[in-house]
Amino acid sequence: MQGLSMRALLGLTVAGLLIGAAADVPDAAKIVADRQATMQGFAKKVRLIKSFADGEDNAPAALEAAQAILETAQRLPALFPAGTSLADLPDIKTHAKPEIWTENERFRATAARLAGQSEALVAAIGRGDRSGTATELGAVGRVGCGACHEAFRAPLD
Ligand code: HEC
Repeated sequence: MQGLSMRALLGLTVAGLLIGAAADVPDAAKIVADRQATMQGFAKKVRLIKSFADGEDNAPAALEAAQAILETAQRLPALFPAGTSLADLPDIKTHAKPEIWTENERFRATAARLAGQSEALVAAIGRGDRSGTATELGAVGRVGCGACHEAFRAPLD
């Protein structure tokens, strides 16, 4: 009996903490909209870089896009403050899984891998190497975007 009520008490405390965390985030809707816009920006930049790899004459724009991916990857974790997962915000359409915070080291490491891999992408574009760009862009998609989405993003609908 004693054990049961302790567990119930603990459950209430945890629920209270979770609600508290959600209520503590001001402007959660804006935070989610901002990071989704950032991700859409990533997708647009990837398409632009792919067009360079495919032969389009747009090296300066592709280089700028790759540098922007690199720079944004470095500050990606800051776009995910605690209390903004899909479990915290049932009324907001976000695909951010709670694992972003329960496995935050791994989340940060994945963002860092996107940054690291983007350096190789910047280098390939910088030397005008289209096939190298295709290779490095594929790696960016795999170890950066894809790896993170697989672990930390709920399926998009
Ligand atoms: C470190 C993790 C991480 C990395 C790296 C990452 N993403 Fe995401 N991405 C997410 C998460 C989490 C969401 C869900 C965000 C939300 O709904 O609040 C998301 C959402 C998206 C979306 C959907 C946005 C929307 O409008 O709902 C797109 C498109 C996207 N990412 C593209 C990319 C591309 C392209 C890259 C690589 C250049 C990338 N992402 C790298 C974690 C990541």
